[in-house]
Amino acid sequence: MRHFLDTQSTSLLLSIVLLITVTYNVVGFPDTPGGSFAVEVNGKTHKLTTTPATFPLWSANVAGASASSAYKYVKLSDTGVAVQKESFKRSFANKKATATVNEFFQRQITQNNLPKVPQVYKDVRSKAAPNFDETQIGTIHVTADPAIFDDMVKNPLDEERKAIKASFRFINANNVYSVEEVKMKVSGHGSRKFKKLSFRLKFDDDKGETFFNHPIIKLRSEAFDPTLIREKLYIDVLNSAGIRTTQGTWTRLYVNGQAYGFYLMVDDVEPPLLSNLFHNGELKPKQLGSLYQMGSHVAGLEATLQYNGSRTADYHPGTYANKNLGANTKEEPMAQLISFFKDLQDFNPALPGGVAYWSKRLNLEDYLRQMAVEYLGGSWDMYWWKGNNFFMYFNPTTNVWQWVPTDFDSTFSNGNLKDVEVPYKQFAASRLRRKGKDHPLITKLIYKNKEINGQFEKTLLTLAKGVFNPKALEPRINAYEKMIQDEVKWDLSINRSKNPGRTFGYTLDDFHKSITGPVKTVNNGIKPWISYRAKDVPKQIASGKSALASQVFEEDEF
Ligand SMILES: *[C@@H]1O[C@H](CO)[C@@H](O)[C@H](O)[C@H]1NC(C)=O
Ligand SMILES: *[C@@H]1O[C@H](CO)[C@@H](O)[C@H](O)[C@H]1NC(C)=O
Repeated sequence: MRHFLDTQSTSLLLSIVLLITVTYNVVGFPDTPGGSFAVEVNGKTHKLTTTPATFPLWSANVAGASASSAYKYVKLSDTGVAVQKESFKRSFANKKATATVNEFFQRQITQNNLPKVPQVYKDVRSKAAPNFDETQIGTIHVTADPAIFDDMVKNPLDEERKAIKASFRFINANNVYSVEEVKMKVSGHGSRKFKKLSFRLKFDDDKGETFFNHPIIKLRSEAFDPTLIREKLYIDVLNSAGIRTTQGTWTRLYVNGQAYGFYLMVDDVEPPLLSNLFHNGELKPKQLGSLYQMGSHVAGLEATLQYNGSRTADYHPGTYANKNLGANTKEEPMAQLISFFKDLQDFNPALPGGVAYWSKRLNLEDYLRQMAVEYLGGSWDMYWWKGNNFFMYFNPTTNVWQWVPTDFDSTFSNGNLKDVEVPYKQFAASRLRRKGKDHPLITKLIYKNKEINGQFEKTLLTLAKGVFNPKALEPRINAYEKMIQDEVKWDLSINRSKNPGRTFGYTLDDFHKSITGPVKTVNNGIKPWISYRAKDVPKQIASGKSALASQVFEEDEF
């Protein structure tokens, strides 16, 4: 709901008539279907109303109120009796306003001040769409046939299940966005085994329903992360590093009027996102280049990028999945990527000209920044360490491959892998040690090629000094902790015992503690992890230089 306001005439009006009509707007779900909400202004209660086109947004014009009147919202029972009253007083920040933004019941702050994260490399983001305003927490209400929805969430491992139909409404401070029908399904791989599920929602962009130009979104459960902050913070670092990536914003999810959970909303890596990120939204899916999704969820296989034969059939589709055909044939959808693998296999890292060679094939600078962020973030579930969670997109405009990262929950060393807490050269060399699982785009380029290694170290140091350190990130983390603590508490209060799958049983205490130190299943706190890498990286690079680093580039010792 947009509230247009002519500030000049309003202030004139205010100075003549002190008491005017004020519109109150609150988002809230009553405890029972017949329940409702009210606003208490100057000690007097006024009922708020909603409509099928706006629920769960409750509004009323209150005559005689003004922007300086203190107020609070009240939840009412079926019979209109107050069942819950806000414990704090609200007041207008803007004394000239004649309407509140869409506030949320029991949440004092609607729009948060987030300290800026320093921008280390050129900012490549486009202006945030209204639904991706990171300073606020939006609310999504999905309504679906309860039996069909229940059947979907009770069988989350069924990846072949067709998406179900649901109606969708999103509300934040200044927007109400509704569509009759979205396609909704459970998303993710490992996360399907958890009680709190992640979802993918697809809008019908053929009908012009694009959800503010974000037509395919994922609601990420963050079930592995007691803070629910890691993925968002990782996106902040990617943004600071000038990497084109999905954005993320937290939202509350309600299903059929019931609390469902607190989620991070991100774009799915699909043609609409690629067109927006790399082509100003101007290319249609058919005009886009080839896209591959890389994963390590097939037992024993990692998306190493090793050459494994010249035919598509030589590559497991669970490890390399063609998502957009681009210039390939239907018979050989892997052809373009295989030729990249072949170049990588043939590349001799001992020869000069590494940067020039790879710059013709890959957005090298961007790739190196991404690997620097992976290393800094202790991201054990992405390419460098695990051969997982990335896409490669052949950009038909620049004719080079573009790295597109995804799924950043296992970061800031969220995991029990002590191995990531090592110098980057060791992190790289360890990939060579495992038979058949070398990650050559790391070991040949970053580890063995002197010229590319120099560029990588410069990038790594620049990012450590510019953004990946306590001074740059802690103010932001502190703001996030305040911003979402009530939502996390709410999320933890939701009874998911009916859902199959597991839970780590994190608590609100774990939420706070995992920011500053270890908790069960997460061996590093976000802040100590950042501070460790911030101190360690400059030392590694300085000591590498003094030792001439020569051994590293000779035939490796493994
Ligand atoms: C490589 O080829 C072998 C033999 O055909 C096959 O078993 C293996 O799964 C392939 N590796 C990948 C990553 O597809
Ligand atoms: C959660 O819901 C189940 C039924 O689905 C119920 O048996 C259980 O007592 C509930 N737990 C709590 C803590 O309310």
